[in-house]
Amino acid sequence: FNVPIAVNEPVKSYAPGSPERAAVLDAYKTMFNSKIDVPMYINGQDVKTEKTHTMSPPHDHKHVVGTHAIAEKKHIDQAISTALEARTAWADTPWEHRAGIFLKAAELIAGPYRAKINAATMIAQSKTVHQAEIDAACELIDFLRFNVQYMTEIYHDQPESTSDAWNRLEYRPLEGFVYAVTPFNFTAIAGNLPACMALMGNVVVWKPSDSQIYSAKVIMDVFKEAGVPAGVINVVFGDPVMITDTVLASPDFSGLHFTGSTYVFKELWKQIGNNIHNYKTYPKIVGETGGKDFIVAHKTAHPKQVATAIVRGAFEFQGQKCSAASRAYVSKSIWNEVKDYMIKDVNSFKMGSPEDLSNFITAVIHEGSFDKLAKYIDQAKADSNVEIIVGGNHDKTKGYFIEPTVIVTEDPNYTTMREELFGPVITIYVYDDDKFSETLTLVDQTSEYALTGAILAQDRYAVVEATKALQNCAGNFYINDKPTGAVVGQQPFGGARASGTNDKAGSALNLLRWVSPRMIKETF
Ligand code: ALA
Repeated sequence: FNVPIAVNEPVKSYAPGSPERAAVLDAYKTMFNSKIDVPMYINGQDVKTEKTHTMSPPHDHKHVVGTHAIAEKKHIDQAISTALEARTAWADTPWEHRAGIFLKAAELIAGPYRAKINAATMIAQSKTVHQAEIDAACELIDFLRFNVQYMTEIYHDQPESTSDAWNRLEYRPLEGFVYAVTPFNFTAIAGNLPACMALMGNVVVWKPSDSQIYSAKVIMDVFKEAGVPAGVINVVFGDPVMITDTVLASPDFSGLHFTGSTYVFKELWKQIGNNIHNYKTYPKIVGETGGKDFIVAHKTAHPKQVATAIVRGAFEFQGQKCSAASRAYVSKSIWNEVKDYMIKDVNSFKMGSPEDLSNFITAVIHEGSFDKLAKYIDQAKADSNVEIIVGGNHDKTKGYFIEPTVIVTEDPNYTTMREELFGPVITIYVYDDDKFSETLTLVDQTSEYALTGAILAQDRYAVVEATKALQNCAGNFYINDKPTGAVVGQQPFGGARASGTNDKAGSALNLLRWVSPRMIKETF
């Protein structure tokens, strides 16, 4: 299989005077100050609707940057039927041509669409330019490139043949259509979920998060220009219940690729189960959901390294990563030093609007998220057994700003040690140096989720012990690093327990879920 070797897209610096800085600021300004009406995209056509929703930046929520269409049931029916009509031709399109389309999409994002997809992500999802560059540009490009390589690895996997029996596996797509439900927090995930299923020959109905529609529009423009045929990926916006009910009621529904909340994923799974007698095939179900990701720092860890892992792991991307560190267990003898480094670091962070490129942290995604985080922080202020050592302020006058906040608790079962908050808040429990093994047991027992986690220690025996004791607590486990920042092609990503089906995004394991192989034996 002769395909271009996948390489990770280099992250641009956006340093003062750089061309990328000028380009992204220009795109931001233009897009922020004009109004866009985002249509749905069904059967290769833009679909506008009478009913629309306005779109506003989370960091400036009174400002309107445009509207997006809202589906009625007939639009979802149409998306399903056009996907099914497109299926045979797409499934029969030679893989080289499907690969060529998505490789071209990667190059379009790397080049002419880079400033636009980053600006859309900065405006509508309130990401800093560095966050947008890592996510919307580089990670999405990486997914598109590496998926092609993984696809060829799958196709390469063939059974033995003999001189009189030629055995071959034909990696057909699923029969019917697949459904992608994608989150606000990663433009890359939003693009990858429909793209990887389509690459494997499937036809898709895609429902992005309401908060990610601006960058979803750019992704669709890219797919269209790259040559994705009409009907292969259909994008619909609007009431998630109506859309999902309609999709899951179709007998041709054959797979769900989901990234979002644990609760919603479980509800969808139940609904699919309830409909099981109606489907022509058993639907594949893949989900990446919540996390309550941890850092354990041993007494032999370097305090500065621990502090950096905590603040970077917890506060980059406003803590709105499923992988974000949200609880830490720090050994007593290094705690004071860790604390001093952390407070210094956090106090140096600038918070504000993404168009000021020197800001490190911006707003959280919407009012619901702001109110939830503010409530936890205010409760922590009122509780006597916890202390906020840095941060704790919040303000939604102009945008949904939550200060990076560190809570220290004497109770390892305190609510913010257990519940997923999805924002820039971390809770720390300080344990006695001689209670390392007990602390590992505690982490395991309190890990309802199992997405990411990290052990920091210089003592190798401590690393060995933690790696074994925490083997079921994290699908992505980091030694002497923060628990975030998985790179496509390097660290396939996904978790178990309540965090998902662990079908590792950015790997052949994930793509294998989207095929229904036919075994052909030919004799002579
Ligand atoms: N891939 C993202 C990370 O690892 C979620 O931080």
